Amino acid sequence: MAFASTRELCLAARTDGYAVPAVNIVDGLSIASAVKAADSVGSPIILQTSVKTVQYFGAAVLASAAQAAADAASVPVALHLDHCPQRAVITEAIAHGWSSVLFDASDRDFATAVAETGEVVAEAHAAGVDVESEIENIVGVEDGVGSDDPNVHFYADDELVRVATETGTDLMAPALGTAHGLYKASPVLLVDRVARLTALTDIPVVLHGGTGLSAEEFQAFIDAGVSKINISTAVKLAYMHASRDHLAEAERTGKWEPVKLFDQIGAAVEQAVLQHIELFGSARRSAVPA
Ligand code: 13P
Repeated sequence: MAFASTRELCLAARTDGYAVPAVNIVDGLSIASAVKAADSVGSPIILQTSVKTVQYFGAAVLASAAQAAADAASVPVALHLDHCPQRAVITEAIAHGWSSVLFDASDRDFATAVAETGEVVAEAHAAGVDVESEIENIVGVEDGVGSDDPNVHFYADDELVRVATETGTDLMAPALGTAHGLYKASPVLLVDRVARLTALTDIPVVLHGGTGLSAEEFQAFIDAGVSKINISTAVKLAYMHASRDHLAEAERTGKWEPVKLFDQIGAAVEQAVLQHIELFGSARRSAVPA
């Protein structure tokens, strides 16, 4: 089936009190495994590509792998471009049928960020593509994009909502105390900020930096109104650790079977995605638009 609308999936999740898992995939194997996990328990899923992954494989290859996985599934699948400050890559994703793009303008000054977000929204909406916007910096580097600078430049809640509304943003990615990658110290989570933002607007709020939060922390964010949660590091670790374990065993036994390696990686990715689906309450959501 055609890719689902990221915005519509998140609006349905917000109404029904769960969050849609937005999983960073890195190749055809992780695409197939993430969709298989979602399909096995009736969960909608958003597949996310970093700019680096798009540049490595090319947009056409990724889009067709995601489309093939979506065609084989009976749950809604959306394809999303994660943190992208580069307008040319946004244009490429739009041209190749992505459901949505995250225009990351957190490296621009306020006036430029607002003006360019408006331009990206106009370009994307003309092609029926949703836009997630980020003007505050979310701590941590995700596939080469972002910064580890812990000093977040916060805007006032009503200012953030005003910019999102005036630019026509479909989903907003505010700084919420989380960070990309593994936590070196416990984060100070801004759950109340989500509650304040969702009281001001119906625009879905996205939680970045999901890896490493506890079940209670996820639930608190979902209860406050978060409807899309991004998971990357946990999936990458599952992928790489399964590879390492398989190769160590192949070395020990002298049996070198690439397809068996894929089986082991695929099973690990599936397991990591299933775990998060359960944490986000997105399994068995038949009311989600297909
Ligand atoms: P983690 O790598 O912490 O899971 O964050 C993922 C993310 O927010 C992608 O945008």
